[in-house]
Order: sequence, then C-alpha cells, then structure tokens
Amino acid sequence: MKRTWWKESVVYQIYPISFKDSNGDGVGDLRGILSKLDYLQDLGVDVVWICPIYQSPGHDNGYDISDYYKIDPAFGTMEDFDELLEGLHARGMKLMMDLVLNHTSDEHPWFLESRKSKDNPKRDYYIWRKGKNGGPPNNWESYFSGSVWEYDERTDEYYLHLYSKHQPDLNWENPAVIRELHDMVKWWLQKGVDGFRFDAIAHIAKAKGLPDADNPQQTPTVRAYELFSNLDDVHTLLQDLYDNVLYYYDIMTVGETSGLGPEEALCYVGDDRRELNMTFQFEHMFLDAASAGSGKWDVVPWKLTDLKEVISRWQTVLHGRGWNANYLCNHDQPRAVSRFGNDQEPYRIPSAKMLATFLHMLEGTPYIYQGEEIGMTNVVFDSIDDYRDVETLNYYEEQRRNGVPEADIMRAIHLKSRDNARTPMQWDAGPQAGFTTAESAWIRVNPNHERINVEEAIRNPDSIYHYYKELIRLRKEHAVIVYGAYELLLPDHPQIYAFTRKLEKSRLLVILNFSSEEPVFEWPVEAMEPEDIELLISNYAPQEHEDLLNLPLRPYEARVYLKRY
Ligand code: GLC
Repeated sequence: MKRTWWKESVVYQIYPISFKDSNGDGVGDLRGILSKLDYLQDLGVDVVWICPIYQSPGHDNGYDISDYYKIDPAFGTMEDFDELLEGLHARGMKLMMDLVLNHTSDEHPWFLESRKSKDNPKRDYYIWRKGKNGGPPNNWESYFSGSVWEYDERTDEYYLHLYSKHQPDLNWENPAVIRELHDMVKWWLQKGVDGFRFDAIAHIAKAKGLPDADNPQQTPTVRAYELFSNLDDVHTLLQDLYDNVLYYYDIMTVGETSGLGPEEALCYVGDDRRELNMTFQFEHMFLDAASAGSGKWDVVPWKLTDLKEVISRWQTVLHGRGWNANYLCNHDQPRAVSRFGNDQEPYRIPSAKMLATFLHMLEGTPYIYQGEEIGMTNVVFDSIDDYRDVETLNYYEEQRRNGVPEADIMRAIHLKSRDNARTPMQWDAGPQAGFTTAESAWIRVNPNHERINVEEAIRNPDSIYHYYKELIRLRKEHAVIVYGAYELLLPDHPQIYAFTRKLEKSRLLVILNFSSEEPVFEWPVEAMEPEDIELLISNYAPQEHEDLLNLPLRPYEARVYLKRY
C-alpha cells in the first residue's frame, strides 16, 4: 500500500463561526483561530479543515457562497487568511478548505444575473424549469424540507435547490460553469492551501430529464435521492477536475458523499480512479434513523452489532484499494459522546475516551471535530427561539404545520439538531465560555461549559484532551495504527467491539466496551497470544492480578495492546 502524508495525518475540523471570536462581536473569526494555533499544534493535529469562510449571506453558515474569492467580513480579511495559512505552515500544519461546488448563494452575482431573464447569459449557470400541472417541475424533496423547486415570478419558472432556497444548484452541464469552478479551485491552490473538503459533491450531477421519483407506495421505487446522488456523471466531472487541476498539486481531498456503500465509494477513492483521496460515508450516521425513508429526525436506539457491521465492511473493502475518512461527528451531526457514548456522569469521560480510541485505531484518516477532544456534549434548549440552524428551523415549521405536538418536535431537535455541534467552543468556565467577550454569542453557549472546557482539560492530566494527545502521538510512532489490516472479532457481541490490526511484524488488539455494564472479554488467543504484549493505551489503569484470558471490562473501558513478532 502506498504510504502518504494524508494517510498518516490527523485532521481537526473547525466550524469558524463557533470556534473563537477575537473582536467581541459574538461571532468566531479568523483572528480567533490564529490565537489558537498553538493549542492545535500542542494537541498534535496535522491538518486543519476550516468550514466555509468565503463571502456569504450566512443562511447556512457559509455553505451559501456569494463570492468564492473573498473572505466574509464577519470572519476577517484576505490578509487574515494569508496569516492563518502562514501560521499553520510555520507550525508544520496544513490547511484544508471547505468548498461548495454544488450550489452558490442566491446572492451570488451569477444567480442575480441568472434570474433576470430567460436569455440572460448566466441563465444556464443554474437549473431552471417550467412548472408542471400548476406545481413544481418534479416531486423531489429538499434536504431542508419542502420541494427542491422555488418559483420565481420574474421569469415564471422554477429553480432547483437541493438545500435551502437560498442555495440554488449550479448547472454542471454547462461548460462555462465548469471552467469558472476549475479556475477558482486553481486560484486557491496557487495561494498554497493543502487540500479541500468538497461539500455535497455527490450531487453535482442530476438524472437526465429530472424525472419524478416514484411514489413510495409503489415498488420498485426510485427515491429522489437516487436521482441526484453518486451518478456516473459525477465521476466524469471529478476526473475532469482532477486531470485539469488537482493532479498538479500535492494535496489532500475528501468528498462528502452520502448514500453509498464502500464498493461505490471505491469509484471515488480507488487508487486507479484519479478522483478523490477519501470520502465521508454516512452509513453509521443513519444507524439511529428509524428507516432509510424516514430521514434523520425519526430516531431509534442504534445497535452495536450494526455499527460493527458497517464499519467492518468499510474497513475491509477499502483496505489496499482506497482509503477511509473516519469520523464520529461533525458540524452536521450530534455530538459523538452524546450519541455513541454516554454524556451522563460518571460515564462521559470514559466513554469519550473509548470513542476516541475507536476513531484513532481504525484504518483511515481520523477527523476530530472541534470540542470533541474535551468531550463536549449535545445541548438542550427549551425554546425553538434559541436554535439557529436553517435545517432545524425548517423542520420545526413543517412539523408544526403538520400538527405534530411541540414536545415531540423538540425531542427530535434535542437529539438531532445540527446546532448540537454548533454551540461555541468551550475554552473556559467564564461567561460565554471564553468564546467571546460580547454579552452574548450568535448562538447560546452550552451551560455545561462551567464543567467542560479547555482550561480544565489542559490542567487535568487525566482529561479527554490529554488522552487525544496521546492517541495522536501513538499514530506517529506505530505504522501499524495507520496501515495495519483490520479484522473484526466477536461480531455478535452486544457490548464489546474488538478488532485486530496487522502490519508486518506488529499486531494490535483493540478492545472497546461500548456499554456502562461490565462484560467479560475472553482473550482470543488465536488472534494474538497474551504473552510479551505491551498495553499501548487505556482509559483505565490496569487492575491488580488481572486474568487477561478472562478480562472483566469496566464501563466504557478501552484497551489497545501491541505485540511484536
Ligand atoms: C453539507 C454541509 C452542510 C450544508 C450542506 C449544504 O452537507 O456539511 O453543513 O448545510 O452541505 O451546503
């Protein structure tokens, strides 16, 4: 397997609006990030991924770009950006930009032109259609509730938006659009950025003719999703981008591609594909959704056996042929410790460390989301007025219109709102968690910042933060953590997730108790003999007189053993 820097790296994701405010306006900014570069370097991460900072009206916190070549004034200036890039490079870190190529803001000059008239030269930069039977051109539903079509009176046509109506989809069938986007990607690369996370990249091509999705009552059904996700044309377009632009730079790329399994993912990341280095898969993000069709809000308890099945499939299918991007949360998902661990005391710390062990011991590049390294949790705001996320607000409105009781809507929001991950980074116990000097931040801070914050985490040698640091350090020391082949043990165990990793003469055994109970782990001698082994890391001190062959695990205990042959 080819060894490269982006396989050996650990990525840290920053959601800039919530990371650190430097000028007291309640909104995070680039100079705020600059002031925390030493913190990131100390943690040991190699690559910083920054969510969009381009000029944007902010309907979707920057994922609605109105000028790809400018920094949004709320975040700072291009000089601040250059300083940030330099500051990262000077500390041996790299910068990955987040780039939205599927859509722009409805305030982008292209769209302002496009909507003016049917014969405007920019008309075909977007996807316009006539209505059908007095309604929208087809029955596709938007990610953010309602139809994907918005009627525009001026030209009596509808434009397509897979996300909010302020995010019209670009028309990738238009060569002029492709040229503009390639030039822009090149421009950022020439500035010296080290990679891209390509937002919503699976959707840049749509099914020819934009046909209706089948009625869910019919079989077989074609879900709308399949008509605008991971189509063959996406690959043609990505290969074109690679051959014309990306190929010339030593960078790291990751695409956001929901709705696919590892075999399809190989079409994006296969060593021979000339497309992307990695993709973010979503299968484990849907383990707590009631059904594929019900969407994310209909939550059911997830099962460890399902998690093992999904992750093991990705680990084995991609091994030697592609590369995984591993993550447990991001700016669109609930907090990992609240969802896959246990955010109630006394379990928050051990379970966050156990999840960290899981994340870092899988084959693939680990992505840490800001605040994960101190075990930040979901938030419970009582009133919808405290929520800011467009997806959450649209969902609330839609459910209210459908007559769903307020309490039921709020329960789903508490579990699944993207704002769970978007409350400000908790730097200290002070007012506003040290995020801002303003009286209030753009979104309320989680009241638990008095307990859970960076200052406390750095002071306490047993903190989740120090545990992350150690995991990151171990990755640099042992190639088996990066490149070792994964093998699952105990596929049916309901509480223990155990696996081995093998590389040349090294073997790892990873043991994770995903429960608050105390199951016994029976050492698999056939996978690895318990003699001459080294305990690389654990979230508990070993007990005296342990019988490794029959090891009772404590709540959320994690252990990693190394054996050299
Ligand atoms: C991606 C982003 C999400 C955004 C959406 C539209 O899913 O991660 O935050 O809302 O794309 O750009």
